Amino acid sequence: MKVLAINSSPRSHGISKTGILLDALVKGITEAGAEVEMVQLRKKSVKNCIGCYTCWTKTPGVCLHDDDMTRELFPKWMASDVVVYATPLYHFTVNARMKTFIERTLPVLEPFMFRHDGKTHHPVRQKPPKAVILSVAGFPEASVFNYLSTYANMLFGKGLLAEIYRPAAELMTLPPFHEKAQAILKATEQGGRELVQSMKISKETIGIITQPVVEDFDSFADMANSFWKVCIDERMTPFEFYHKNMVEHESEI
Ligand SMILES: Cc1cc2nc3c(=O)[nH]c(=O)nc-3n(C[C@H](O)[C@H](O)[C@H](O)COP(=O)(O)O)c2cc1C
Repeated sequence: MKVLAINSSPRSHGISKTGILLDALVKGITEAGAEVEMVQLRKKSVKNCIGCYTCWTKTPGVCLHDDDMTRELFPKWMASDVVVYATPLYHFTVNARMKTFIERTLPVLEPFMFRHDGKTHHPVRQKPPKAVILSVAGFPEASVFNYLSTYANMLFGKGLLAEIYRPAAELMTLPPFHEKAQAILKATEQGGRELVQSMKISKETIGIITQPVVEDFDSFADMANSFWKVCIDERMTPFEFYHKNMVEHESEI
């Protein structure tokens, strides 16, 4: 099985919570014997679809842009059995970088329209890869992913093998949550193995990945709000805050 794992977070490796979860999933997928290629979308040049339909008319199946998507990513996407779309939740859906990638897969479709099960479809030039959606969010409630889930099911239909959503993801790297974070990452690895073995992830495994990490909303909000207050008072971004504390902590050792 060939798997393409795409991380659309703009944050760098080790900082991106999408990346942390995706690394665990990929570990499990690799252990189960599949071949995985990871793509950090922030390092690629993927231009916006301009809606010219050149890929449907003048050069069927080929986009007019000459960028990393046309040259490298679209051919890899077409050659994959499964694609993991890993994105931070931005305004309740995939982030702009991932949306741009998805729009640029238009050349796989033909323009003609037909009806199936009461819904309008385009024929495909080649069967698109099966999909897994993975996302992380700042808010603590699981329902924050409802809109993304509706979108993913609409987009991928029966090709959607699994949905992996992690709310309150920013807590995962904080020391008090170390144990829970380890359990979540172990379950995500397990999810990767299950995916290769049965093309799905069990409810039990998803249950561990999405488990609440804070008892109640008030404790969560107290923690998050005091953190933001410090950042504002100190005129520091969360990344600068994290970096400063890591450096100070290391110099104490
Ligand atoms: C522009 C922007 C929009 C966001 N929108 C949401 C949102 O709708 N719901 C939510 O719970 N978190 C939202 N977040 C928080 C991110 O989902 C969260 O910080 C996530 O852990 C980032 O993932 P990353 O570390 O992989 O980049 C948003 C963050 C940004 C920067």
